[in-house]
Amino acid sequence: MTDFNTQEQQEQALLQKIDRTRIPAHIAMIMDGNGRWARERGLPRSAGHRQGVETVREVVSYSHGLGVKVLTLFAFSTENWNRPPWEINFLMSLPEQYLHTELPKLVEKNVQINLIGDPERLPVQVRKAIAEGREATRRNTGMILNFALNYGGRMEIVRAAQALVNDVLSGKTDARVDEGKFSSYLYTAAIPDPDLLIRTSGEHRISNFLLWQLAYSELWFTKVYWPDFNRLHLLQAIYDYQQRQRRFGKI
Ligand code: IPE
Ligand code: IPE
Ligand code: MG
Repeated sequence: MTDFNTQEQQEQALLQKIDRTRIPAHIAMIMDGNGRWARERGLPRSAGHRQGVETVREVVSYSHGLGVKVLTLFAFSTENWNRPPWEINFLMSLPEQYLHTELPKLVEKNVQINLIGDPERLPVQVRKAIAEGREATRRNTGMILNFALNYGGRMEIVRAAQALVNDVLSGKTDARVDEGKFSSYLYTAAIPDPDLLIRTSGEHRISNFLLWQLAYSELWFTKVYWPDFNRLHLLQAIYDYQQRQRRFGKI
């Protein structure tokens, strides 16, 4: 059969099915499968990461076009430090490369760049690139682009607990703790919880991502490796999300 159903036609068909007034406000993504994508092509893992950056470009720009309010991308976990040094170094060169070409476009698109995770252990060039991105987009009011770098959900929760204890001991706050107060100590303090979590590469796990914030998120998994993830997959995830009934414990 001839492939008359082009990507463009499939995109239009999906866009027609999607309710543009109900786009998930916050989409979080576990960008997984770069290494396997490369291995299947006989390429070094770094080639998968490089192609993964291309997917980030496409996903950020397309999400912005759809009117997504917050996009949170899991780029490096607290456990990813256990990878070989050469791979860590390669991964740590990517935020700078990405922002070097994309920052002017992000500024123009009114996107706000943000970091979730502990910057302490990140190499200086990553901290610098993110700080510059933050500064350049500080006055923007559009989509929040959250990079999770040296991020771990458990680390975030423990850090929040410690900060809260410190504030109680110094008299900055009283000793009453509720969900609202606790979440104000998380990296995502001012950001609503994700409506939709997407994980690529066929793994069905959270891998220490946004443990607190995902409490009532809709989860969407695909076997597609991150470098092959495209706008059609994103539209399909949004369409599936819109078919679900979020009950939040009610009937
Ligand atoms: C995702 O791809 C990138 C990071 C976790 C930093 P992987 O590097 O985990 O690729 P696989 O899972 O080994 O295929
Ligand atoms: C999760 O992917 C972390 C990121 C995408 C940054 P991993 O590849 O590290 O997860 P596991 O090890 O398969 O759980
Ligand atoms: Mg992986």
